[in-house]
Amino acid sequence: MSQTQALWWASESFWRKTAIWVTAGSFVVLIFLTFDTVKQITAGSKRVPAYANALNHRIDYVFDAKRNFQVPVIGPEEPLFGKMLTETEAEALVSHGKLTTQAKNCMDCHTLLGNGAYFAPDLTKSWLDPAWGSKETREQTMVEFLMNPTDKLHNASGRRMPNLKITEAEARATVAFLKWMSSIDTNGFPSNFKPIDQADAAPAPVAEPAAPAAAPAADAAPAQQ
Ligand code: HEC
Repeated sequence: MSQTQALWWASESFWRKTAIWVTAGSFVVLIFLTFDTVKQITAGSKRVPAYANALNHRIDYVFDAKRNFQVPVIGPEEPLFGKMLTETEAEALVSHGKLTTQAKNCMDCHTLLGNGAYFAPDLTKSWLDPAWGSKETREQTMVEFLMNPTDKLHNASGRRMPNLKITEAEARATVAFLKWMSSIDTNGFPSNFKPIDQADAAPAPVAEPAAPAAAPAADAAPAQQ
């Protein structure tokens, strides 16, 4: 090795230039990543459904063999509280729910998308929690639970959620926020989550229990007003 080469890589000016280039390069990469991330976490992107799309449909949670975990899939039409919403209405409702969770500091006890405290269950997939009973009663049960959680032991943790004086409008908006959040593709988080059974009503049982001859008559009767 010649002496000039050794001087070249050991020189102070070389390392100063290197430091400047590395800093500038990292800065450019960070700016690129910031914009790229914002694009990917915006509602209406591939992993984060648009608000109305999520609220107006059933959120299925199915195993994706290629990725080897469950992913949310927008299912058939199933509007929240039975009302189809426009994107503007849906966004307003979800925002109201999000603001409620911030105003009431739900993260003091819960985690949302993994962020927050670990005293109470993670709420990312709460909308799909089998603890709500059936999918038919879920919305109402959730609203009632949020407005008055103290007298219901919802799961087996033995901990109770305090009454946070949530109004009915806030509770409904929070349910919308939770339904939308459950539709976000979180790369399988939380793992090993088993969703509520949302399959369409099972077909009528094949063998009717031996009923008296009244059954056909009931079928023929005019629909009750
Ligand atoms: C002081 C702690 C605390 C705060 C604050 C709190 N919770 Fe809870 N929450 C709990 C506990 C504990 C449970 C479990 C209760 C149970 O199973 O009966 C719970 C359960 C729940 C559940 C049921 C979760 C599931 O799927 O099993 C939901 C939904 C929920 N909370 C929403 C909220 C929202 C929304 C807020 C903010 C508006 C909030 N909580 C604030 C403690 C808290």
